[in-house]
Amino acid sequence: MIVAANLKTHFTRAHTKEYILQIDTFLKTNHTTNEVFVFPAQTALDSFDTDINIGAQNAYPTDKGAFTGEIGTQQLDEFGIKTILIGHSERRHVLNESQDLIAKKFKYFQNLGYKIVFCVGEPKEIREQGDVKTMEYLTSQLQGVDLGYKDLILAYEPVWSIGSGHLPSDKEIIDVHAALRTACKAPILYGGSVKPDNIRQITLLSNVDGVLVGGAALKADDFCSMISIAQCDA
Ligand code: PGA
Repeated sequence: MIVAANLKTHFTRAHTKEYILQIDTFLKTNHTTNEVFVFPAQTALDSFDTDINIGAQNAYPTDKGAFTGEIGTQQLDEFGIKTILIGHSERRHVLNESQDLIAKKFKYFQNLGYKIVFCVGEPKEIREQGDVKTMEYLTSQLQGVDLGYKDLILAYEPVWSIGSGHLPSDKEIIDVHAALRTACKAPILYGGSVKPDNIRQITLLSNVDGVLVGGAALKADDFCSMISIAQCDA
């Protein structure tokens, strides 16, 4: 299983360091075959001495240049970071990132051999129109993305489930993951309101290869519990 924490705009640099140390200590003392990822806030990126895969939540498709407020690979290379999250719901819907820019980022970081966790997910009004419309919407979010890329991990994160405490039904998750699986061999994560209480139910569903966790990952103890629970299904 893949267990990933998206820390979003949480934690200072010092707090992130403590958090990563705690997770790393847990991994060193508890055998796990899970692949663990942490995506810290940009200012907390660093060269951590850990087996945790540390990734960037975002970067501009450039090495350096005049892109105020962004970071490029020059800043990521400083810390040896070769993993990136692309297409997250908050980048798409809060920061209005277009599919064109998302596809451009995908191509850029693919060419550099980054491990890419690529997110798709439908808003509530699309889900309410049924399975066909939902899949059409998700397919449009994959436009310009090379689904055969060997270092791709897909994440299905319904927008209405993120941070809301509402989960799709098991059938909704199974159906979307099955449809994505026919299009792509990459591991497929589920994300949206995953917590210690429900992770097992989710990781037992077919074609769920792991989870991407936001809010519930902010407590290091809870994130460690989720790593342990996911181990049962590894
Ligand atoms: P959540 O967020 O776990 O807080 O719902 C998931 C995500 O945004 O990746």
